[in-house]
Amino acid sequence: MKKTRLCQLLGIEHPIIQGGMSLIASAELAAAVSNAGGLGIISPNAREPDWGKVAHNLREQIAKAKGLTDKPFGVNFSIQLIGEDRTLIDTAIEQGVRVVTVGAGSPALHTRYFKEHGVKVLHVVASVRHAKRAEAEGVDAVIAEGYESGGLNSPDELTTFVLVPQVVDAVDIPVVAAGGIADARGFVAALALGAEGVQMGTRFIPTRECIASENYKKAILEAIDTSTVIMGRRLIPTRALKNELTKEVLEKEAAGASPQELLSILAPGLTAAAALEGDMVHGQVLSGAVAGMINEIVSAGDVVRSIMEGYDRIVAGLKD
Ligand SMILES: Cc1cc2nc3c(=O)[nH]c(=O)nc-3n(C[C@H](O)[C@H](O)[C@H](O)COP(=O)(O)O)c2cc1C
Repeated sequence: MKKTRLCQLLGIEHPIIQGGMSLIASAELAAAVSNAGGLGIISPNAREPDWGKVAHNLREQIAKAKGLTDKPFGVNFSIQLIGEDRTLIDTAIEQGVRVVTVGAGSPALHTRYFKEHGVKVLHVVASVRHAKRAEAEGVDAVIAEGYESGGLNSPDELTTFVLVPQVVDAVDIPVVAAGGIADARGFVAALALGAEGVQMGTRFIPTRECIASENYKKAILEAIDTSTVIMGRRLIPTRALKNELTKEVLEKEAAGASPQELLSILAPGLTAAAALEGDMVHGQVLSGAVAGMINEIVSAGDVVRSIMEGYDRIVAGLKD
């Protein structure tokens, strides 16, 4: 396939980004994706609420990724996590990171700072209004993320299929489609909608290089179409695999629980309990709705390669 503007912007071969995933997007995963021609992304490991330790870990992850690949890779920053603090941002810049994806917050906070330091910024958006705002703030590309996606979600609840073409029509910069993509069919569909690349999260969890717990990987493989649910609509909407935790939160929400009551159930360590320790019953098992179509653990590089092979086959078939 011809190179899209995203490939040129990032200096990558295939327009496939491995999305930031708190706790589990480590150097090994990012490097494997980058080595296959996509863009791997490292997420700062913010399990410890101590910026010094998180920065130290991020420095180590970046150094490790540099040792595993000579291709471009990036770092993800969740504004919800870092707010206005630039400790982690400065760490990434000092270590020579030249691409970041930024989500869960305003592009007004750090975009100019990144640009002043020669860093390309891809901002996650979930509506046309947010996409236009991000473009006006000077980001290089937007990642239009539909509410099929795993993890934090927008209250606007727009699906990828309706969000992407409207964002494409509204901005001039490249648009990356995210949410509900796990194979070549979704990749081709995203390009048909006008996206110039895709970002995937859930598909990269059951991969050999991902440090997620074996229980987590297995739960994604066993998921069916209806296995995920959005919870926390009155706090921060979050898509996760259904379990005892989502049941309790949804019951409490239906009974009119206050945000404080809901927060008391959603303790900070629940994502780590699922992602790293394998508690699939009471942990917060972040997953996209696309989990139902993921059936095997493969290498992250094979995820990228099989999409590119499938692209050629599908496009040739469409012409018959
Ligand atoms: C387990 C998990 C954790 C995530 N954590 C983050 C995060 O820390 N920052 C971020 O910008 N996006 C995060 N995301 C969103 C992904 O980067 C990506 O946009 C999303 O997974 C795409 O949808 P998909 O899950 O259908 O592939 C997360 C997604 C998952 C599944």
